[in-house]
Amino acid sequence: MGKNVFTRLVAFPLLAGLAWSTAAAQSKPVPNRQLASKELNLRVENLLRKMTLDEKLGQLSQYSAGFAAGPGVLNLSWDELVARGQVGAMANVVGAEETNHYQHIAVEKSRLHIPIMFGLDVIHGHRTIFPVPLALAASWDPKAVELVARTGAVEARADGLSWVFSPLVDIARDPRWGRIVETEGEDPYLGSALARAWIKGYQQDDLSKPDSVAANVKTYAAYGAPIAGRDYNAADMSEITLRQVYLEPYRAAVEAGAVSMMSSFNTVNGIPASANPFTLTQILRKEWGFDGFVASDWEAISELVTHSIGDAPTVARKALEAGLDADMEDGLYATVIAPQVRSGKIPVSVVNEAVRRVLRVKFALGLFDHPYTTSGPSYDATPERRALARKVAGETLVLLKNEPVEGAGKLLPLSINGKTVALIGPLADNQLEMLGAWAVSGDPKYVVTLRTALQERIGERLLYAEGCGLLSGQDENILKQVRFLGPQVALNDHEPVPDDDKSIAEAVETAKKADVAILALGEPTNWMEGEAASRAHLGFTGSQERLLEAVVATGKPVILVVLSARPLQLKWAAKHVPAIVEAWSPGMEAGHAVTDLLFGDVNPSGKLPASFPRAVGQEPLYYAQLPTGRPAHEDLGRMPRTGEEKFVSRYMDEDNSALFPFGWGLSYTTFKYAQPTISRAEVPAREILASRRKHIATVGLDVTNTGSVAGTEVVQLYIRNTAASVEQPVRELKGFARVTLAAGETKHVEFPLGFDELNFYNANVQRTVEPTTYKIWVGGNSLATAETSLKVVE
Ligand code: BGC
Repeated sequence: MGKNVFTRLVAFPLLAGLAWSTAAAQSKPVPNRQLASKELNLRVENLLRKMTLDEKLGQLSQYSAGFAAGPGVLNLSWDELVARGQVGAMANVVGAEETNHYQHIAVEKSRLHIPIMFGLDVIHGHRTIFPVPLALAASWDPKAVELVARTGAVEARADGLSWVFSPLVDIARDPRWGRIVETEGEDPYLGSALARAWIKGYQQDDLSKPDSVAANVKTYAAYGAPIAGRDYNAADMSEITLRQVYLEPYRAAVEAGAVSMMSSFNTVNGIPASANPFTLTQILRKEWGFDGFVASDWEAISELVTHSIGDAPTVARKALEAGLDADMEDGLYATVIAPQVRSGKIPVSVVNEAVRRVLRVKFALGLFDHPYTTSGPSYDATPERRALARKVAGETLVLLKNEPVEGAGKLLPLSINGKTVALIGPLADNQLEMLGAWAVSGDPKYVVTLRTALQERIGERLLYAEGCGLLSGQDENILKQVRFLGPQVALNDHEPVPDDDKSIAEAVETAKKADVAILALGEPTNWMEGEAASRAHLGFTGSQERLLEAVVATGKPVILVVLSARPLQLKWAAKHVPAIVEAWSPGMEAGHAVTDLLFGDVNPSGKLPASFPRAVGQEPLYYAQLPTGRPAHEDLGRMPRTGEEKFVSRYMDEDNSALFPFGWGLSYTTFKYAQPTISRAEVPAREILASRRKHIATVGLDVTNTGSVAGTEVVQLYIRNTAASVEQPVRELKGFARVTLAAGETKHVEFPLGFDELNFYNANVQRTVEPTTYKIWVGGNSLATAETSLKVVE
């Protein structure tokens, strides 16, 4: 044992003089303008007065057509159920004709003519499929995210849908969790900026526009922090971490006007999220002023029985009373609430309040005035939408490594000048896998693969070999899970190639005939990422690592394109492959976007929204760690990892650092950061607290493109609060800007700082700012070194 020193985290009492302003600095509820409208609420009250209890509960019930849980429970057909006014919303009914069918029944045959809200998982586009959300986060481009949401909304609305189960704004710090693909990654600042962009794109600050859709923000709360990365597992953390990290993007979404939320499957600090009055009512409604509605995730209410908080009537009551307004798929609100209202166990006011929240959104969407969809089939691959998908995908690609090769210089951008290219790998020509998880309305036949795009570009100078299957024989257990959902996913794409040894040998021969080899490797994205797709190992699946090693052994220069929408463990590749591009699941324009980048038509600008590990044992791995009293030298930046340290916070058999850190991403040009300056070196805490959302100082610096081609750099600002009463992370992102610079050009970049950037939660769980010094760094990733500081005085 080393020196027996215990460092206590002491929560200092609030400085007396600051107490008043700390309270004043707490976020005030921001009512949604449309939902707060007097006229709208009058219409809601008029309607509510006329409703029977069953009709009210109908508005709180959402069913997915084609699944047994709805009419199965009530023994009625869909048409009958709708005609009785007992269906508030339907999921998985898509298309003008299909939705209009039920809408006509609801509006014309049901007693009160209340329209249905049709919802769907529109996650990264509807018909036009864009890169998956984690990839979109790698663009660090809120405008691009907004355009993706906008396109999805237009297409969804044309298909009769008015409610999208997106965005998922959970913070994810553990790539074992398959749903990291649906998130914006590990950071609350980036996540919040993108959450706002999603909402703006879907709702346009005006739900009543004919091409706006209601966003359903998910998955509230802290679903992204399952212990050990296993989907649906409990989340357990301090209230400070919950608020400061995990709840921030939901809060941003609510402030941006989101009108519905989806409650999650997990428990949050011991209480299931779907029956949690603290998150659903105290925080969401009372503190944030949310006046939309909360719907459960799929059967999340009946799962409360398995969570062991009561029998079916009890859990339904607990969920409703906690603030969960609508029931997705369980049919429980429709069956077990009414008897409890009649017996007086549940006050009818609780039901009324939930119904109000649902109706408000339906009125705001204009569904009462325009219930039907008049457009025809929406899918036409308009050149504009395809061009947007290609452009956005180009922004999401991250150049992880581009080291010179002896005698050939840097491999990227590719200049082939008559040379032959060998394209190898099970993801080089696989349309389905380019779409990524949750592309529910995406059609693989519209996808351009890398093979197709390269063929267009270099014709017969392209050689191709599949190399091996995505999954091999040993992955029988994985195969069964991938096929679980039935024949539609049991495509040949997932079948093991009968003989990987033979295929690898063929691929090696193909590589030998070429001047350069491009390998497209990863994992099956369609069903091995997303929901219920946690992994304990983060390598390439099947025989792909073996394939990579065999091709590298030929001595041919190798470019690796990784197609996986979670950080994989790329340690061997990072050491032995000179050029690596993280391409995620790029969507329908996958091949074009990657080819644009490989040939330099697009200069890489993507930056990692999540840390890439050296080993799975490092997870959860994220840059914004709290300090330890025994930091390793490596973490202090003093010296490289050495064997001579003991009794410090480190792994004996691996570095602490990420293989590729948060914010990382190279370009075909280089950028120089000048010394940043700050407009005021010293600011009183009182002034920051009183200023609320105004900025009190500005960090500025020159960034120069020192290379020979134009490029876009994501300039990032990080802070460290060095003396807070509650320990703060060693670094936190608090600003970023995409800056495009011509070769040789310099631009001055400014980052405003104010309460929003500088506050933290104190021991009383209140947002505050105290006297301290903030270290501030600006640079192109989370290891940024250009430094300044800000002193906060009393
Ligand atoms: C998922 C949600 C999704 C819902 C409806 C659930 O299994 O957790 O994210 O929106 O299904 O398809």
